[in-house]
Amino acid sequence: MWIASGFKYTEWNRASMSNQGSFSGRNPIELVTRLNQLWREGGLHAIRQGAEDYLRHNTIILDRKYEDVRSDTDYRWEFINNHINDSTERLLDIGCAEGYFCARAAGKGINAVGIDTNEKRIKQAKADHPNVDFRVQTLSPDNVTELPESDIILCLTVHHGFVNGYGWDESVEMMKTILEKGDLLVYEGSGIRRDHPSLDEDLETIDYYRELLFDIYEDAEIIEETYTEYGSGERTDSMYIVDCSNI
Ligand SMILES: C[S@@+](CC[C@H](N)C(=O)[O-])C[C@H]1O[C@@H](n2cnc3c(N)ncnc32)[C@H](O)[C@@H]1O
Repeated sequence: MWIASGFKYTEWNRASMSNQGSFSGRNPIELVTRLNQLWREGGLHAIRQGAEDYLRHNTIILDRKYEDVRSDTDYRWEFINNHINDSTERLLDIGCAEGYFCARAAGKGINAVGIDTNEKRIKQAKADHPNVDFRVQTLSPDNVTELPESDIILCLTVHHGFVNGYGWDESVEMMKTILEKGDLLVYEGSGIRRDHPSLDEDLETIDYYRELLFDIYEDAEIIEETYTEYGSGERTDSMYIVDCSNI
C-alpha cells in the first residue's frame, strides 16, 4: 500500500498540510485515475518523484537529504553566491529543507533564516547547522506578511507548495508579499508544468517560468537566469535572480 500512500503525498503536499486522512482508504479506480493524471502532468518522473517523496518523509528506506537528491546543489549555490556581496547581511530561505543554502550563507557571515513546513527536515537542519536560525513554519496567506525583511530571499522549488495548499491566485498574492520583503529574490520553478492556469505548456522551461514570474509581477526585473539539472537528465529546472529593491 506504500505506493498508494505515495500518491497521497504526490498530491503536492495538500494532505500533509491539511492533515487529511490516509490515502489507503481509496479504491483502486481512484488510484488508477490519480496515476493517469500524474502520468499526463509529469510522466514517469512525476510518478517516481511522488513515491520517492513519500518514502523519504514517511519511512527510513530513503533517508536522503534534499541537497543529496539533486546533482546541481553546488551549481545552484554558486549561482546564488554570485549575487551575494559585502552588503548582503540577511538571507531568508523559504522551504529550506535540510538547510544547505542557509548553511553556505552562514559560512560567509550572513545572518541566515530558514523556514520549512517539514519538521523532520528542520530537525535535521538544526542538528547539522546549529549556528543557523531554522524554524518549522508552513508559509500561508495568513502568515506571509510576518516574514522577516531580507537582503536576499530564496524561493527554490517551493512555489508549487503554495499553489497546492492555497490555489494559484492565493499563491500569487503570497509571492507578491515575498517580493516586497527582499531586495533580491532567487526563484526556481518546480520543473513540472502544473502551476499556472493558462501558460503555454510547450514553452521551454526557462521561458515558461520567466513568463510565470512576469505574470506574478509584470515589472519584474530579472537580472540573471540559468538552467539547473535536477538529476541524471530526467528534469531541467530554471532559476532567476529578480531585483525587488524597488517594490
Ligand atoms: C522540493 S523541496 C525544495 C528544497 C529547497 N528549497 C531546494 O530547492 O533545495 C520543497 C521544500 O519546501 C517545503 N514547503 C512546501 N510548502 C511549504 C510551505 N507552504 N511553507 C514552508 N515550506 C514549504 C517542503 O517541505 C520542502 O522541504
